[in-house]
Amino acid sequence: MSSNTTTEEQSWILVTGGCGYIGSHTVLGLLRAHHSVVVVDNLCNSSKVSLDRVATILNLSEGERKERLVFVEADVADEIAMRERVFNITKFRACIHFAGLKAVGESTQLPLKYYFNNLVSTLVLLKLMQEYGCNQIVFSSSATVYGAVDSMPIMEDTPVGLGITNPYGTFLERREICKFCIPISCPSR
Ligand SMILES: NC(=O)c1ccc[n+]([C@@H]2O[C@H](COP(=O)([O-])OP(=O)(O)OC[C@H]3O[C@@H](n4cnc5c(N)ncnc54)[C@H](O)[C@@H]3O)[C@@H](O)[C@H]2O)c1
Repeated sequence: MSSNTTTEEQSWILVTGGCGYIGSHTVLGLLRAHHSVVVVDNLCNSSKVSLDRVATILNLSEGERKERLVFVEADVADEIAMRERVFNITKFRACIHFAGLKAVGESTQLPLKYYFNNLVSTLVLLKLMQEYGCNQIVFSSSATVYGAVDSMPIMEDTPVGLGITNPYGTFLERREICKFCIPISCPSR
């Protein structure tokens, strides 16, 4: 896709962190399901080679790849880049948000880095989704938010936030975002 050549009939999904472990597998699944995908990743924990592998697995020609799998190297917390290089290029049917730092150990040593990255990027994303009328989000949270649970398996109604021992898991941002920000920004979810 060159910047102005998206077609209305295409179903474009925005995948943040789409070069990473879960993101790249998700991109593969989306393309197999006939969606077109814009991946935004700052490559802080991945390589865009993962998207080359996705294209190889699907046997995408260069032309098909240009039309259906677009990579934008950007930080999701960078509102200007996200506006100009992502949201201005096409209308998204939905967003799947995987961009985040996730190393539990490192989060205890560098909590501000984790809070800043994971919280600000999510807030910027929600702000732009609201502004551009994209009302569907899949937010990749973490089972860590359940802390030390009394009984397994963890169920939908298991309380979150009890006994969490690290900044990755504390996830004030994730719990608050899930409870308050997402329903306000994306009322259909
Ligand atoms: N792997 C798991 O078992 C697991 C389980 C539950 C939840 N999660 C969550 O799912 C998400 C993805 O996990 P993963 O295992 O694929 O991690 P990953 O590190 O492989 O992928 C995350 C991707 O996000 C990118 N990224 C990070 N911050 C960014 C930013 N500000 N802007 C743009 N790109 C950014 C990284 O470069 C990477 O490609 C994470 O938020 C993680 O907390 C993972």
